[in-house]
Amino acid sequence: MFVLTSILPIITLALAAPSANDNCRPSRTTYVAQYDDLPFVEPGPNPIPPHYNGLSYTAFQVDQYDGFILPTSGNQWTMAFGGSGNFSGPASPAKQTFQLESFSYACVAGIPQPECAISIWGWKDTGKIVKRVITFPRLDPGHVIEDFKMNKTSFAREWRDLKSVGFSIARADDGGDVFGGLALDDVKYTITTKC
Ligand SMILES: *[C@@H]1O[C@H](CO)[C@@H](O)[C@H](O)[C@H]1NC(C)=O
Ligand SMILES: *[C@@H]1O[C@H](CO)[C@@H](O)[C@H](O)[C@H]1NC(C)=O
Repeated sequence: MFVLTSILPIITLALAAPSANDNCRPSRTTYVAQYDDLPFVEPGPNPIPPHYNGLSYTAFQVDQYDGFILPTSGNQWTMAFGGSGNFSGPASPAKQTFQLESFSYACVAGIPQPECAISIWGWKDTGKIVKRVITFPRLDPGHVIEDFKMNKTSFAREWRDLKSVGFSIARADDGGDVFGGLALDDVKYTITTKC
């Protein structure tokens, strides 16, 4: 009994004090998040599990094709039903960041829907913020469903060293509410860990 009580505190101390670099391996990995491998049940919610392909999502869920706009790959995409949401890398290791490269996107409010302005913010590890606004065209009645497609965009090199990316949609004409969701698919990014 005397032996146990005197050894335990020593073990605890040894576990609590690894040097910071022991957990860090320099790496660089490119992902294309397609969401097709994630479970989807109805009724939801269908949150994206933490650290999915290295990122964690706020407000975005797994969503499945329902006969309207077809996801770019497979039959699932990620949807922020309220039109705004984020994805972020982990706070630790501090020197892990990602570069956003490209994705497919659609505003999904039904037919008709107004031209949709999607504001995108990137928060860098330095605290610097980069911003971009892209649009998804207005959708009018009188089309076959196949006319409605996701659009795709890619990002310049300034969208690197990111800790987090945030999205918010609004009507392009007057800044009002779109009353719809923002869908993303094939989100491509590279996660870099420096030590
Ligand atoms: C996105 O992240 C920012 C900064 O962390 C936070 O202020 C904002 O509330 C988040 N938005 C959503 C929709 O989670
Ligand atoms: C963008 O989306 C619109 C509306 O769905 C579609 O008509 C158009 O073909 C898409 N453009 C591209 C380049 O995918």
